Amino acid sequence: MLEKNVLKVETPGDGCYPIHIESGSLDTVAVFCSRHAPAHRYCVIADSQVAQLYGERVLEAFRREDINVELISFPAGEWNKSCEAWSSLSNKLISAGFGRDSAIVALGGGVTGDLAGFVAATYMRGVPVVQVPTSLLAMLDSSVGGKTGIDTEAGKNLIGAFHHPAGVLVDPVVLKTLPRDQRCAGLAEAIKTAAILDEDLWDWMGVHAHELVKGGTDASAQLVARVVSHKAHIVAEDPAEQNLRSILNFGHTVGHALEALEGYKLLHGEAVAAGMRIEASMGESLGITKLGTTKQIEALLEQCLLGGLWEVDRRSAEVREAMLLDKKSLKNRVRCVFLSQIGTVATDTEGHYTFPLDREELDDLLSTALTANPKD
Ligand SMILES: NC(=O)c1ccc[n+]([C@@H]2O[C@H](COP(=O)([O-])OP(=O)(O)OC[C@H]3O[C@@H](n4cnc5c(N)ncnc54)[C@H](O)[C@@H]3O)[C@@H](O)[C@H]2O)c1
Ligand SMILES: [Zn+2]
Repeated sequence: MLEKNVLKVETPGDGCYPIHIESGSLDTVAVFCSRHAPAHRYCVIADSQVAQLYGERVLEAFRREDINVELISFPAGEWNKSCEAWSSLSNKLISAGFGRDSAIVALGGGVTGDLAGFVAATYMRGVPVVQVPTSLLAMLDSSVGGKTGIDTEAGKNLIGAFHHPAGVLVDPVVLKTLPRDQRCAGLAEAIKTAAILDEDLWDWMGVHAHELVKGGTDASAQLVARVVSHKAHIVAEDPAEQNLRSILNFGHTVGHALEALEGYKLLHGEAVAAGMRIEASMGESLGITKLGTTKQIEALLEQCLLGGLWEVDRRSAEVREAMLLDKKSLKNRVRCVFLSQIGTVATDTEGHYTFPLDREELDDLLSTALTANPKD
């Protein structure tokens, strides 16, 4: 049984922050905050759902330590990762008299982490933030790396800032209350990490898929520690996403296009799951990815209840156009990350991790990938 796990993430300029993973650690959040983000006053920001489930418990943890704290909540849902919510939360902090000697505690999923992180990045030109992720996606992915931001009508995450947390506190027990589809969507990011970097983790996930889908505390804690240590390493190596960090986009080039086409009907992890299947199949067609890799991906996705064929009604032209519209595409070309096999990403002859594809190549590859019946 994994009791406690502490990882460190290095930030540019010799800084670093801890990620502390421990069952029941939500009750020690005040001690963690005062150690890693000492402040005169704390503002816990949570969405309505998480505030109702865990808000009082977190406030109580601060009161027990005699620390000044307040909770401010906003309505749950991706559509509230908005300029209006950022403005409303910032104004509430001003009205409540929070000064430069305050710190923010972002308690919730990735929406809260990004929004509250961006409030912290901009409030009085920046106050510390402690990330307390409560969704699996936030634990494994969004709470680490320092990206914060909000969506606009033109697209997701178009306004934002790099603002590294002072610390990240993960209590895997809270995953028990997370809806199952949200847990599975979080597993897609773990599958991605295993696919690009860690064949052992891939095999381990296959053995523990059932426990992970149920939100088993011990398996989830181990998964978070293993995935986060990979992300921490990559972010430290390539903070500005020059080359290596782009491997984290495996499954996301197609995934983002599906998300844009399906809107909020599709969870991010579900779109990434479909994206990994399609990109693996594209890699096989190009002769970059070992034959049979797509089948391996399909099998693990199925075990993690991520086998839905969300793209099945989409024509390749629609997906291609949505990919070309993405903010990461340049001059009518998209850049894709391909596996060479499970656990390893492919590089081109110059050591680049992304492969450019023009409109025609993309069209051919997508028509083959979308017409291949993954259930054969
Ligand atoms: N900053 C980054 O590097 C990064 C990386 C990946 C994703 N993201 C962002 O993360 C966001 C998605 O995050 P998400 O999937 O966590 O969505 P989310 O924050 O909306 O959480 C999903 C739902 O689960 C609920 N919830 C969260 N924890 C719960 C718990 N323990 N028990 C019960 N309900 C709980 C929330 O209230 C919400 O309704 C997107 O906006 C995405 O852009 C950011
Ligand atoms: Zn993602």
